Amino acid sequence: MPIREQWRSRWGFVFAAAGSAVGLGNLWGFAYRASEGGGAAFLLLYILIVLVVCLPVLVAEMVLGRSTGSSSLVAPAKAAGSRWGVMGWLFVIAPLGIGSYYAVLMGWTLDTFFHSLFVGLPADKTEAAAFFGSISSGGSVLIGQIISLVLTAIVVVAGVRGGIERLTRWCMPILFILLLGLAFWASTLSGALEGYKALLSWDGSEFFKPSTVRNAFAQAFFSLSLGIGIMITYASYLGRQNKLPKEAIAVASLDTAVGLLAGLMIFPIMFSFGLNESISESTIGALFIALPAGLGTIGITGRIVAVIFFALAYIAAITSSISLLEVPVSSVMDRLGWNRTKSVIGVTFLLFLLGLPSAFDINFLDKTDKIVGQLLLILGGFLLSIFLGWVIPRKFDEDLSNSNSSLRVRRYLKFMLRWVSPPIIACGFIVSLIDLFQNWSS
Ligand code: TRP
Repeated sequence: MPIREQWRSRWGFVFAAAGSAVGLGNLWGFAYRASEGGGAAFLLLYILIVLVVCLPVLVAEMVLGRSTGSSSLVAPAKAAGSRWGVMGWLFVIAPLGIGSYYAVLMGWTLDTFFHSLFVGLPADKTEAAAFFGSISSGGSVLIGQIISLVLTAIVVVAGVRGGIERLTRWCMPILFILLLGLAFWASTLSGALEGYKALLSWDGSEFFKPSTVRNAFAQAFFSLSLGIGIMITYASYLGRQNKLPKEAIAVASLDTAVGLLAGLMIFPIMFSFGLNESISESTIGALFIALPAGLGTIGITGRIVAVIFFALAYIAAITSSISLLEVPVSSVMDRLGWNRTKSVIGVTFLLFLLGLPSAFDINFLDKTDKIVGQLLLILGGFLLSIFLGWVIPRKFDEDLSNSNSSLRVRRYLKFMLRWVSPPIIACGFIVSLIDLFQNWSS
């Protein structure tokens, strides 16, 4: 058995985990879901879910990975016996499902980036829609998808230290600076105040609306890359010295900050250019139409902003897609004993095939996102909470105490994992399930 790779430093792990968390989900997903309604109620729910439910589950996932030193496929069985092997499969199937369409979204992002850079922005919404139609169908969608998969594969082949850690250490600070710059620029726009107001308007009844609840749950879990084994895998490359509760707080704070900043940037743009209706009105691709169309109306400044925005989105996306690839790759390496290169090639090809239906049919992409990217994640979070809180609480405690987490922190986490997260996640899951099916049948 070859020795398992390890992160070079404590920050290597935090950057990689935050890199996985911060992605298209924060930039495009946050704006898209926030604009579907809810305003401040959506925001508050989202933040509450992150704090109360997701943080303990995040620690749980990390502990499972570190204490077993195994990939997500093997970890549950290793921790509690082969009966739990099925759970491991969920943690391989879900990242494959998300990875399949994530590469397609990345392809759109890349196309829009190149178009903004070399050709220019569309003159109005009709032209923007036509452009989006052209990149989201036919041959060009495949080119974007393939380039994105190949770039992701190159990083993952280079390994945990040489690829993932090296890339995320550079990308995360750059991303943060660019985003701060854009949010600042957006605050100077004429419609900025109106945009902030829309994002922050309070309407108490929204708090209990099923669609708001579903969006908040989906946003929290998807954005944190939670519930499907990413953190298990990344934490399996960790040493004892890391204090996981602290790392979890760092990752969740960075991720939430980026989501909020992105909202504070996109909403002013939308309102300044009269596009407020268009992000939520249509499909998943609306942001790719509305944003370039809006920026297109202010000449060269708009073009520069668009180039920066789509570059930033692509950087954020690639640090996430490497995590989606690493999970199945690491499972294949553990289970079949293949070497890294062979595993990466095999899994990348599989992701390409699985992504084809999404590449050619936006509705398929949308449905996969809702089933895998929302429901399965929430289910995974529920199982993890039960698993660490009830099935292997001793291991959970031991691992944290070996790495010097205080008794108070351990007690708090165990209490949350046992009594608080499971019922709340279960409610969130049921509400989301019902809301989704009602949406589909109406
Ligand atoms: N969190 C990433 C985003 O916000 C996407 C992502 C990467 C993800 N790995 C994941 C989502 C695992 C869910 C589960 O874009």
